[in-house]
Amino acid sequence: MTEIPEHLLNRSKARRESASGDGASGASPAVAASSTPAAATPAKAAEAPKPKAVVPDPAYVVAAKTRRKIPFWAMSALSLLPLWAGVYLLALTPEDKVVEGPRSMGTAVYSGCAGCHGADGAGGAAGQVLYQGSVLKTFPHIEDMLNFVYNGSQKFVAAGLATYGDPNREGGAHRPLGYNGNPMPMQGEKAGGGLSEYQILAVACHIRYDLAGADPEDEQWAAEYETWCSPESEIFKALQSGATSFDTIAKDFAMLETKPREVGTEPRLGSSR
Ligand code: HEC
Repeated sequence: MTEIPEHLLNRSKARRESASGDGASGASPAVAASSTPAAATPAKAAEAPKPKAVVPDPAYVVAAKTRRKIPFWAMSALSLLPLWAGVYLLALTPEDKVVEGPRSMGTAVYSGCAGCHGADGAGGAAGQVLYQGSVLKTFPHIEDMLNFVYNGSQKFVAAGLATYGDPNREGGAHRPLGYNGNPMPMQGEKAGGGLSEYQILAVACHIRYDLAGADPEDEQWAAEYETWCSPESEIFKALQSGATSFDTIAKDFAMLETKPREVGTEPRLGSSR
């Protein structure tokens, strides 16, 4: 037990006496006289100012006060939210092209040909018919088509060549400038055109397999498709990287099961199947 210091006891005694004096002044002297000091003391003591009661916090306030606040690292994580939003949107954006390769690239290149040959290859006053197997009859071998597109009609005329493509084409071989006298403009860079060799291959693949109706599954075209136009085509990749060229393709890929023929960048006669 703690000893209460003497001076505090004295002070409280003095207070009690002064308080009982005040209380007695209001009461009748008889009552005051009859009450014994022993009985009065506890009653007066109860009136002494109590220390202010400390009301304990309710449980939920205690919980709120003691709960850990947002951890410091969470703020930096939260500030990155806009970035996550961007990443999320990127992840949601579907790929434009499912199959990347010569055909899909060729679709874009063909926009430069469609003005004369028609969007679907139906041809018109300014450009030959390509669709419905027509161009496949002219060029049973894709190599001959690449050479003709590279050079265009006028280079063939200048080289003194009377025909292009299959000389035994059903209905007669095609003659340069034989289509209403309109020229097929040169496309290859060395011939003065604007297309790289891999772009010429790409557009040829698009024309043959998307417009003219060659079926990659058909055994007539399966080997050509694999070698030249499939997304895995080694030749296409090598043309793109510059590892091969129309002038060297035949020897660069001589090891293939379906050996490519010469393409070349000089105009030359085509061949039958
Ligand atoms: C200015 C119009 C014009 C443009 C542009 C054009 N061509 Fe031609 N193309 C022709 C004409 C005309 C012929 C017929 C050539 C001839 O008779 O000498 C032809 C012929 C062809 C042939 C031979 C078809 C056959 O069966 O005889 C192919 C293949 C061809 N073009 C592909 C293309 C490609 C690929 C492009 C785009 C990179 C293209 N052309 C852009 C006018 C055009």
